[in-house]
Amino acid sequence: MDFKQYVTVVEDFPKEGIRFKDITTLMENGEAYKKAIEAMTEFAHGREIDVIVGPEARGFVVGCPIAVALGKGFVPVRKAGKLPREVLEVDYGLEYGKDSLNIHKGSIKPGQRVLITDDLLATGGTIEATIKMVEKMGGIVVGIAFMIELSYLDGADRLQDYDVFTLMTY
Ligand code: PRP
Repeated sequence: MDFKQYVTVVEDFPKEGIRFKDITTLMENGEAYKKAIEAMTEFAHGREIDVIVGPEARGFVVGCPIAVALGKGFVPVRKAGKLPREVLEVDYGLEYGKDSLNIHKGSIKPGQRVLITDDLLATGGTIEATIKMVEKMGGIVVGIAFMIELSYLDGADRLQDYDVFTLMTY
């Protein structure tokens, strides 16, 4: 399937010069969404994954259905102040902005095999921070799956030590 035909490229959002890749039009199409999740789930097969981790909000859109398809748990990574229990916190830089990410302490057990998922790899800051938190808890990152990679931002350079899958590249 040509997944790109379901993604809408929006000029100058959220600020001038950014060509925003809007996956909501893909999600609106039941068949395209299902096929996209199936292709990403395929990447997970044979990796003996224990748990899926994904950053809010669009990382949930991708990671949760993969977790359900695999019959595995999902651990959310959230922006500061959203998780109710004790958290690990890591600062990160975004394509447009800066923030910190949180994960519940103890949500990943030492030695657990983790699949990280997100909709988009841009600069790689979000996923680098997510990897840091998973590894701090003793998790083993056995794969990272994205719906979209913006190859011109070179985020993949930061993920060279990991097995990365991308459904669409711009
Ligand atoms: C977007 C996207 C990725 C991240 C990619 O999330 O969903 O998580 O940016 O950028 P990076 O590779 O440069 O870190 P955003 O923080 O905009 O949050 P959202 O999913 O809640 O919209």
